[in-house]
Amino acid sequence: MIPPPYKNKVIEPIVLIAKEKRIKAIEEAGYNTFLLRSQDVYVDLLTDSGTSAMSDSQWSGMMLGDEAYAGSRNFYALEQAVSDVFGYKYVVPTHQGRAAEHLIAKILINKKGGCVPNNFYFTTSRVHQELAGGTWVDVGIPEANDPSNAHSFKGNIDADKLKQVIKNKKNIPFVRIEACLNMAGGQPFSMANIIQVSSICRRHGIFLLLDATRVVENAYFIKQRENGYSKKTLAEIIREICSYTDGCTMSSKKDHMVNMGGFLATNSKKVFEKAKELVVVYEGLHTYGGLAGRDMEAIARGIRESAECEEYVEHYVSQVRYLWEKLKKSGISVVEPAGAHAVFIDAKKFYPHIPQNRFPAQTLAAEIYVEGGVRVMERGIVSGKHGREAYNGPELVRVTIPRRVYDLAHLQYVVETIKSVSKSAKLPKGLKFVYEPPTLRFFQARFKKVK
Ligand code: F0G
Repeated sequence: MIPPPYKNKVIEPIVLIAKEKRIKAIEEAGYNTFLLRSQDVYVDLLTDSGTSAMSDSQWSGMMLGDEAYAGSRNFYALEQAVSDVFGYKYVVPTHQGRAAEHLIAKILINKKGGCVPNNFYFTTSRVHQELAGGTWVDVGIPEANDPSNAHSFKGNIDADKLKQVIKNKKNIPFVRIEACLNMAGGQPFSMANIIQVSSICRRHGIFLLLDATRVVENAYFIKQRENGYSKKTLAEIIREICSYTDGCTMSSKKDHMVNMGGFLATNSKKVFEKAKELVVVYEGLHTYGGLAGRDMEAIARGIRESAECEEYVEHYVSQVRYLWEKLKKSGISVVEPAGAHAVFIDAKKFYPHIPQNRFPAQTLAAEIYVEGGVRVMERGIVSGKHGREAYNGPELVRVTIPRRVYDLAHLQYVVETIKSVSKSAKLPKGLKFVYEPPTLRFFQARFKKVK
């Protein structure tokens, strides 16, 4: 692993509480790591969302917040950064990524229904498409669903599947392509693929939406893995990706390393005009979209930092790779290949005796917390099953690394914790629902142990 291209100036103490207290804490949380109190967590690898460490430039930028209700200068800094790095003409800030997903789904689906092809899915993206009256459909390549397949671009869209959907369903409000496909293990799409998808969409006059949440790492993987990109800068690659699309939704809580914020950006004046109308209703005026001026300044600086300082991305991806290699060497089945923001453990292989309807990944996440106070997240049937439809997809635990927060010793500790859990893998029998929420059930669900 390369050394971090930064040093610490501010630290936050963390404490490992006693094992009996951890057992009690997870029981009180209904065996759901989302319901733990963070003060009971030692190493928090629940998510890379809003959990990163901002730079001195970002913190000092926050002191320059212009908190005017309208026309804050920080909005213009944000607009300029999006234009310089992404190349989109219009930007509407939002309080986080899902608010941008809400706006675009409302604007493009607009109660007319229709079918939205996506590479696999993200939880909130799918729900917003459905709440707006659309139908989600997966046009990802089949390799994305196979944790042991080491395809270099598991985030690709299957062009034949996409063409078929377009042929069969006349109403396609938009196509969504997600960078570093979260639910498949943080896996990138290739430039060749987005070029192909873009030309299909343009031929049929369909809006191509990029979920740019982890586009910086996607650009990094293109640079590493795809012919013709090794000499380009990340900024050039990001701009090229965006040039094939009509707009993006962004959760700046990941790549831009801020604690809150996101945006909808587009080249379509029509979409922008509609977004300006709607954002006032749901978020706030179009020059703040639910954010303070200081938040927009931190995002603007984060956009430039993430695209211009390649060492940050290189170090971050090398941390993920380190954790991935160590776990793999210890005999733990992990999703292939190493992805952008997290290592995903295959819980079906970890607990082959626990059937999927007894939630092996949820069980594993709870066991990892009890063993070492390490908080991770279920990414299997609890988060993937939708309504009444059957689910037999991947059953994973996501071990997610916040940007610029933990060091090598923390990662070594996490490896030892998971190795320890694997030594008693025969013991747990799985979990049963005590409370099952109707949507996005992973956030609030409660479980008890199967005896
Ligand atoms: N799109 C992707 C690919 C995401 O990973 C997320 C959030 C969102 C959209 C929504 O953004 O949280 O700012 O509203 N992912 C987080 C995670 C929650 O832990 O993976 P948001």
